[in-house]
Amino acid sequence: MEKPLESLRGRDILRITDFSRQELRSILDLAHALKRKQKAREAHRLLEGRALAMILEKPSSRTRISFEVGMFQLGGHAVMINPAEIRMGERESVADVARTISRYVDGVMIRSNYHWTIEEFSQHATVPVINGLSDHHHPCQALADILTIEERKSNLTNLKVCYVGDGNNVCNSLLEICGVLGISFVAACPTGYEPLLRRKSKAISFTSDPREAADGADVIYTDVWISMGQESITGRKLQEFLGFAVTPELMSCAKPDAIFMHCLPAHRGLEVDESVLEGEDSVVFDQAENRLHAQKALLASLL
Ligand code: CP
Ligand code: NVA
Repeated sequence: MEKPLESLRGRDILRITDFSRQELRSILDLAHALKRKQKAREAHRLLEGRALAMILEKPSSRTRISFEVGMFQLGGHAVMINPAEIRMGERESVADVARTISRYVDGVMIRSNYHWTIEEFSQHATVPVINGLSDHHHPCQALADILTIEERKSNLTNLKVCYVGDGNNVCNSLLEICGVLGISFVAACPTGYEPLLRRKSKAISFTSDPREAADGADVIYTDVWISMGQESITGRKLQEFLGFAVTPELMSCAKPDAIFMHCLPAHRGLEVDESVLEGEDSVVFDQAENRLHAQKALLASLL
């Protein structure tokens, strides 16, 4: 089986661009190998006796469960930390929590409201820190997404990935991973909701026309219009995102064998039609499963 890359040991992942193309490739290759081992029920206890702390300041299903099960399958243990108990930044500073937790565990996964909280945590932690979603980035999702695309499509370099909707955390990380791996990426977002990195390059482009973006695409990806914490601006956003839903008609602009992707949870009838989400081109539950395999490779590489 592929060995974790030595240069990754002890590192943090706050965003995709923390890693080089070669490092991402090594994590993805290990993830494919670990998935095969898991399916064959072969032992792969690469983290025997290691512990991961999980701090989730926002709701989660996939992230929490896949990290916990992943540590178990690798022979280690995951400790769920209740944010209401540690009250990071109130009862104790982020720096002190980071330094304390680092004395007990071999790595920390954090989901936080603000990306800078994870940055501050990582500056003081003495063990690897993994971003389990912030307002700006969702790197673990992007790793699982590429794993899923690789399972469905043979050649990454000739692909066109089209993201339609809110230029949010999921979009930022997908854009970054496509950029680093050299995959052609186009985002169609309403004006004012473009991703953080708006600099065009050979492989990355932007438009506000979903049909133009979807034209000839191999992958159509969307995410919720109202991310966690944005509930107060729901009314305004629903107006501004009219015309940005993924419908059968939009899917028909893409290649005939295009797949539909969504990080989940999804809102049927808003960002995606029920028939697309439940259709035969939808790979959304493969993406959910691949969170497990991608993160196990990440954990085995960093911890
Ligand atoms: N996609 C994703 O991160 O799901 P959860 O919010 O359920 O963890
Ligand atoms: N953009 C969404 C992703 C959820 C996994 C959010 O931040 O709520």
